Amino acid sequence: MAGRLQGKVAVITGAASGIGRATVDLFVAEGAKVIAADLQEDKGAQIEHAHKDAVKFVRCDVMQETDIAAGVNAAKESFGKLDILFNNAGTGGARDMADAVTAEGFDSVMHLHVRAALFGMKYAVPIMREQGGGSIISTASIAGLRTGYGPLLYSIAKAGVVHMTHAAAAQLSPENIRVNCICPGMIATNIFASAMGLPRQYAETRIDALAEASKHTQPIPRGGRGSDIAEAALYLGSDGSGFVTGHALVVDGGITLGPNDAARMATFGPVFGALGADAEAIAALFNPPKPA
Ligand SMILES: NC(=O)c1ccc[n+]([C@@H]2O[C@H](COP(=O)([O-])OP(=O)(O)OC[C@H]3O[C@@H](n4cnc5c(N)ncnc54)[C@H](O)[C@@H]3O)[C@@H](O)[C@H]2O)c1
Repeated sequence: MAGRLQGKVAVITGAASGIGRATVDLFVAEGAKVIAADLQEDKGAQIEHAHKDAVKFVRCDVMQETDIAAGVNAAKESFGKLDILFNNAGTGGARDMADAVTAEGFDSVMHLHVRAALFGMKYAVPIMREQGGGSIISTASIAGLRTGYGPLLYSIAKAGVVHMTHAAAAQLSPENIRVNCICPGMIATNIFASAMGLPRQYAETRIDALAEASKHTQPIPRGGRGSDIAEAALYLGSDGSGFVTGHALVVDGGITLGPNDAARMATFGPVFGALGADAEAIAALFNPPKPA
C-alpha cells in the first residue's frame, strides 16, 4: 500500500533533533523524499545514513536568508519538486522579563521563529505556485496561544507564527498553497536541556526521563513525544488535509484545557478555607469519589 506521502518532497528545518527528526523518520516511512536542514552536520550524516536515498542533509542556519534559500531550493535540485515545507527550527531563546529585554534578545528570538519561517515561505511559494500547490507548516506552540507556557519573547514570537499562518493562508490558499501551524504542548526533546545550557550529548540521554517526568503535566497521562507532532505534520502535509488551511493545530495532551484537580485545589482551596471548611472537606470538593 502506498504511503500517505508517496511521491511527495518535503523540506524540514530543525531536522536533526526532537520534533524535526521524528518528522523526517515518519515522512520517509510514508513515502516522502526529504531535505533535512539543520546546523548539526554530524546528525545530518547520521540521518542520511539511516535513510539512504530518501534524505539529503543540507547544513542550514535559518538565521541566514541565503541558507534558507539554499535549503528550500535543494528540494527541487535533488528531488525535482517541493510539496511540503516544515518550518520547525527553534530554541527557547532569551528569557528576560518585560523590563529587562534587550534589542538583541528581541531581534534574535523574532528572527529565529518569525522571520525564518516567513523567509522559508518566501522561497517555497514560487516553486509551489509553479507546481500548482503545496503545504506550508510551521511549528508554533501553545505558548503562542496562552500565557504561562514559555518565556515572554518566545511566547510573543510563537503568537506571531500563529497569526502569520492565518494571514499567509488567506493570501496563498487561492493558489492551492495551504498554510497551517502546529501548537505543541510539552514534548520531550532537547529544547529544555538546551535552555539550561546542558550539553547535547547529555540531553539526548534524558529524553525518556523527561517524558516520564512529564506524564502528569497534562490530562492525557503520558509524556508528549516528537512523534506526536510528526503525526500532526503528516496530516497537514498529506492530501487528507486538503481542505484545511489557516489552522493552528493544538497537540498538547489537553494541557491547555486548564489546571488539574490538584492545581485547582491549591489555588481555590483557601477560598473554601475562608468559609470554615477543613482540609478533608476541601479535598472532597476537588476529588469527588469515583463511581464504584
Ligand atoms: N519540545 C517542546 O515542548 C516544544 C513545544 C512547543 C514548540 N516547540 C517548538 O518545536 C520546534 C522544534 O523544537 P524541539 O523541541 O524538537 O527541540 P530540539 O532542540 O530537539 O530541536 C531543535 C532543532 O532546531 C535546530 N536549530 C536551532 N537553531 C537553528 C538554526 N538557526 N538553524 C537551523 N536549525 C536550527 C537545532 O539544531 C535542533 O536540531 C521549535 O520551533 C520549538 O520552539 C517545542
